[in-house]
Amino acid sequence: MTIGVVLAAAGRGERLGAGAPKAYFALRGEMLLLRALRPFLAHPAVTAVAVVVGDPSDARARAVLGDPRVQLVRGGAERQDSVRAGIAALGEADLILVHDAARPFVTRALIDAVAEAALRHGAAVPAIPVPETVKRVDGAGFVAATEPRDRLRLAQTPQGFRAALLRRAHAEAAAAGRRATDDAALVELIGERVLLVPGDPHNIKITSPADRTIAEAILAAATEAGRG
Ligand code: CTP
Ligand code: MG
Repeated sequence: MTIGVVLAAAGRGERLGAGAPKAYFALRGEMLLLRALRPFLAHPAVTAVAVVVGDPSDARARAVLGDPRVQLVRGGAERQDSVRAGIAALGEADLILVHDAARPFVTRALIDAVAEAALRHGAAVPAIPVPETVKRVDGAGFVAATEPRDRLRLAQTPQGFRAALLRRAHAEAAAAGRRATDDAALVELIGERVLLVPGDPHNIKITSPADRTIAEAILAAATEAGRG
């Protein structure tokens, strides 16, 4: 089995408000981009990685270069455009895994679980149960409904796909002008099934300033356990 990886890192990080693209935000001195990339480069089945950034000539982006499997690709206006550019830059591989640079705590175990499920079923997404009560709101800020959450899941990355399926999903979405916030949704939109596999609660996405605090705590715990 061979795996191509798209690492989406071309966002502006507006909600984090660090004054720089989020991928270049340093957690304990190391950029999210490098932390998110490392577990993929350590995986023996990974043959190519397209790191998608806003400006491939940026010195911070060029810090990923060195491993011959890694190339820098210019991203687009929305995440979907960036991932599409990354897919286009990858050569042949059995599977493509798409991962957000905003998730620096991806593990080998999660990569393996997603890759194995994608190989078997075509498309696989790590997901975790929704831990809080979910309210639907009306336009005036009042509760319109309380949603049953037993069938709801929070989708993480890496999301894994047979390469041909992901390429077709992105091509059809682009042709039809369809937009979605993750890659699995584009596969769902062409009528193909996506298997959910257990996600990892530590595999958080760093989105807002509060997530920095949580990320520091996860790193501190990992250091204490000798995994830092
Ligand atoms: N991303 C991307 N290209 C874009 C937008 C987002 O590659 N045009 C990437 C981000 O770099 C991030 C991932 O998609 O790793 C998830 O996006 P998000 O968490 O929304 O990050 P940002 O778009 O950077 O943050 P914000 O929405 O707060 O500006
Ligand atoms: Mg965004």
